Amino acid sequence: MSKIDEITKDSWLRATFPEWGTWLNEEIEDEVVKPNTVALWWIGCMGFWIKTEKSTNIAVDLWFGNGKRTTRNKYMVKGHQMANMSGGRLVQPNRRNQPFVLDPFEVKQLDAVVATHIHSDHMDINFAAAVLKNVKEPIPFIGPKESVEKWIGWGVPKERCIIVKPGDTVKVKDVEILALDSFDRTVLVTQDSYAPLAGTIPNMDEKAVNYLFKTSGGNIYDAADSHYSISFGDHGKKHKIDVAFGAYGENPVGIADKQTSVDLLRMAEALNTKVVIPLHYDIWTNFMADTNEILALYDMRKYRLQYKFEPFIWEVGGKYVFPNDLGKREFHHRRGFEDAFENEQNIPFKSLL
Ligand SMILES: [Fe+2]
Ligand SMILES: [Fe+2]
Repeated sequence: MSKIDEITKDSWLRATFPEWGTWLNEEIEDEVVKPNTVALWWIGCMGFWIKTEKSTNIAVDLWFGNGKRTTRNKYMVKGHQMANMSGGRLVQPNRRNQPFVLDPFEVKQLDAVVATHIHSDHMDINFAAAVLKNVKEPIPFIGPKESVEKWIGWGVPKERCIIVKPGDTVKVKDVEILALDSFDRTVLVTQDSYAPLAGTIPNMDEKAVNYLFKTSGGNIYDAADSHYSISFGDHGKKHKIDVAFGAYGENPVGIADKQTSVDLLRMAEALNTKVVIPLHYDIWTNFMADTNEILALYDMRKYRLQYKFEPFIWEVGGKYVFPNDLGKREFHHRRGFEDAFENEQNIPFKSLL
């Protein structure tokens, strides 16, 4: 049997996915977080990982799925939030734009699974199954009511789930998780099946929450899919915020789903955060946005508006340590070759390169 004969679609999938293998799992496991710091990794979309100096690991909105994979379905399901919002019927061409940087089935050390809301790019059945099978301790699944209902519907034991609403606090080892109001209007037009929404008053607190993760290294604010709201100013006044995440993206006409560059800067100012990091713009082919827009606007506005925060532009799979990485503006993955010239080169002649 030739090598070619052994190749199948399945062998290709197994050899290639997830694209980063266990690289990031190992990096997170091996990370020793120094006292009074907190380490963060961007897993893609609004998914991120927190690790504290006491080795507490918290996974927020981790998602290992994808978007559209065929052109054959022409129309949205009736009642889809984007159909409800826009009045359009054509299926949105939202293909996944990022590799899988973490292997959910190789996650072994974790202290909590956290979700902000029910949208399918913020909760994942594969991750839920992997955690239940591979993490030894009965760690909690924390989210708003509808997220918990989704987990229970998948088979996550009810006793493992903790429902939070704004104002609730959950302690996970050395991390205090405070649920706060969400300002995600898209989730308010999301429904399981079509029903007229005119005149209804949806309950945001059951559908979505923002979070403040209080750690010994700093406080991490997760605005999740919140749109811009003046109430960010309320959160900023009542809480000490060090790093804030927001959902950035360029909305197609007819859609108000992601924060724009101006929204994100206004959010950072209102939250009185030290650092603002845009997320979510990476993932969907139809919502991509240029982060240089945030940096350009920041530079145009920072002196006049006396900005006290700084923006940080990340990469999926990258690490950010607060407060050590303060002052950095853009991330680059490790470039390697630190030991160049420490061994004899093997080249035809010295002036070759
Ligand atoms: Fe969402
Ligand atoms: Fe989202």
